[in-house]
Amino acid sequence: MNILILGSGGREHALAWATLQNPKCDKLIVAPGNAGIAQIAECAALDINDGAAVAEFSSENAIDLVIVGPEAPLAAGVSDRLREAGLAVFGPSAAAARLEASKSFTKEICDAAKAPTASYGHFTDAEAAKAHVRAEGAPIVVKADGLAAGKGVIIAETVAEAEAAIDDMFGGSFGEAGAEVVIEEFMTGEEASFFVLVDGETCLPIGTAQDHKRVGEGDTGPNTGGMGAYSPAPIMDDSVTQKALDEIVRPTMAEMAARGMPYSGVLYVGLMIENGQPRLVEYNVRFGDPECQVLMLRLGAQALDLMQACAEGRLDQAQVTWADDHAMTVVLAAEGYPGSYEKGSAIKELDGLPEDSFNMVFHAGTAAKDGQVVAVGGRVLNATARGSTLQEARDRAYALVDGVDWPQGFCRRDIGWRAL
Ligand code: AMP
Ligand code: GLY
Repeated sequence: MNILILGSGGREHALAWATLQNPKCDKLIVAPGNAGIAQIAECAALDINDGAAVAEFSSENAIDLVIVGPEAPLAAGVSDRLREAGLAVFGPSAAAARLEASKSFTKEICDAAKAPTASYGHFTDAEAAKAHVRAEGAPIVVKADGLAAGKGVIIAETVAEAEAAIDDMFGGSFGEAGAEVVIEEFMTGEEASFFVLVDGETCLPIGTAQDHKRVGEGDTGPNTGGMGAYSPAPIMDDSVTQKALDEIVRPTMAEMAARGMPYSGVLYVGLMIENGQPRLVEYNVRFGDPECQVLMLRLGAQALDLMQACAEGRLDQAQVTWADDHAMTVVLAAEGYPGSYEKGSAIKELDGLPEDSFNMVFHAGTAAKDGQVVAVGGRVLNATARGSTLQEARDRAYALVDGVDWPQGFCRRDIGWRAL
């Protein structure tokens, strides 16, 4: 089987690694890839948001399955173009990808499906939004409706802060994404992520994780794309998982199908859990990054079988084999991230690190230059390890971190603190 993976982050390195564990994979191409991916697969320069170009490349290379990593190509309709060309695709249509691309759309689907989530108001003008905030009081959550690269959510501690955020969003600081605003009740509890494969009909849970979004230890400081993650999430016990499936995932997926936009791909379900009751925070229409890294290390070769079954609408016959194990990933980022950072510093000693089914350093923002690996992004490496306990996974992950020679990088030393 010939496989094409779209993307260039740690998530796509992990997807590529898991795909190569499976003997079914004859040829793997990743577009555009990164320096770590280039060590295990062929990388191709391709505009991954251009559906026609991806479809043409796929037919030229006799691709049997396209796995779409990030949200941008999904929102741009790349899956639709590939399906029109008769290709098997792991990733939802642009219509279904609105579950991530539009917060008001998701709230409307949740209402129709009676899925537990924060109460909300949806506004297209600042004065009405501010009146709503004054009536509700703080804390309150102000969200730009569209895709804002994870930066469109303001948790306002005071009414004045909420009003300032509303002015900001309608004032254009989030571009098109801020032309509409959703204002939500502030939910308390513990957050976890739940990953479910959906093929339009069947919903198959494949794992849980928790990530650390803040840059600083003790979960402080500005938000990032994620500084580390672990799987499974202890708070997602059988009862919470079942409720999340029965009350949130299945009803919303049925609503999507009933509206003529069945969901196909991985659904990333962001939950807030309080007193054993999950409520939806958000849907994403792709794997989380870095959550994917811990999921792939735990799933290994079966990940490809599952993604293929999902793409071919055969999830009712698929099964996940669970090992009773734990995984952790620690993100190494460039000094300064999530603010401005330097590019081009050399990363050394990567070759001497173990690479097996228990230890993997997945690359994110790396490139090869003059025979060296150099940092070219904010989040640069993911030291990822598996063990029979979370403590063992943690110790292995930090041993990988300590083996990397990269003075211009940093990481959090407390990934997993809540669970440990
Ligand atoms: P989102 O982009 O919707 O995932 O929001 C980013 C983060 O903001 C979430 O992971 C939560 O930590 C937080 N958040 C979003 N909505 C709420 C809410 N209604 N109540 C409390 N926290 C929230
Ligand atoms: N780690 C959060 C995300 O991928 O959205």
